[in-house]
Amino acid sequence: MWESLKGYIKPGSEEERLVREIDMARLPRHIAVIMDGNGRWAARRGRARVEGHKAGSESVREAAETCARLGISYLTLYAFSKENWKRPRPEVIRLWRLLRDSLKTDGRLFMENNLRLTAIGQRPGIPRLVLKEIERLEKATERNSRMTLILALNYGGRAEILEAVGRILRSRTVRPQDLDEEHFSGFLYTGGIPDPDLLIRTSGEMRVSNFLLWQIAYTELWITPVLWPDFRRKDLFEAVVDYQKRDRRFGDVQSR
Ligand code: FPP
Repeated sequence: MWESLKGYIKPGSEEERLVREIDMARLPRHIAVIMDGNGRWAARRGRARVEGHKAGSESVREAAETCARLGISYLTLYAFSKENWKRPRPEVIRLWRLLRDSLKTDGRLFMENNLRLTAIGQRPGIPRLVLKEIERLEKATERNSRMTLILALNYGGRAEILEAVGRILRSRTVRPQDLDEEHFSGFLYTGGIPDPDLLIRTSGEMRVSNFLLWQIAYTELWITPVLWPDFRRKDLFEAVVDYQKRDRRFGDVQSR
């Protein structure tokens, strides 16, 4: 077991059993997560939806720490979609406030754990104070190298593709014959970041909900009925173990 996980997981536990199954030489480089089920988690307890989001932010901390300790290089979390603006105004306000508070209080953790933060999505539209906090942390952590945490905020996959097309047209430097997939990827919000190897979705819904539409072309999907606030280290290890059993062929007949 890797040094960084020692002392973090209980000896003899289910977590330890799963970690022992993981081949550390074949870890997914990039994990993306659709964190779903906060509202249902709260409803089942007769609590307000925002309580589900609060509990969900604890799962965010645990997932980020676990991925960093495991040796994952990139973790992308779908925290606020462009469609989430349709929710009741009080929920929207509380969600952004929660995000800002989490970024403020966890800022220190990013430095202590050598984590880099970056955000993807439409920045115009993100509440000013949240954006200020994001940009402050992006700057402060830009040289950190252990893992990059990518927050998708005010994010939509189709909007991202449209924006990329707009940037290409406006640049007037890209000739149609030079535009291949790699070149196009560079114009997305995720330019320079490898595509996710594994996409986790909690709460059992079988959809991709406008998330990283271009980038997940060959991503392995892992869907669990567990609601996001209940998502623990063990679930993450289970996803990685399952991912490593997959035969990734990228359209070829042989595994890669
Ligand atoms: C989906 O659950 C979750 C969201 C729309 C928000 C995700 C936000 C967090 C986990 C909170 C904090 C995030 C960070 C990065 C600190 P839902 O409300 O759609 O659940 P439901 O489908 O059960 O109603």
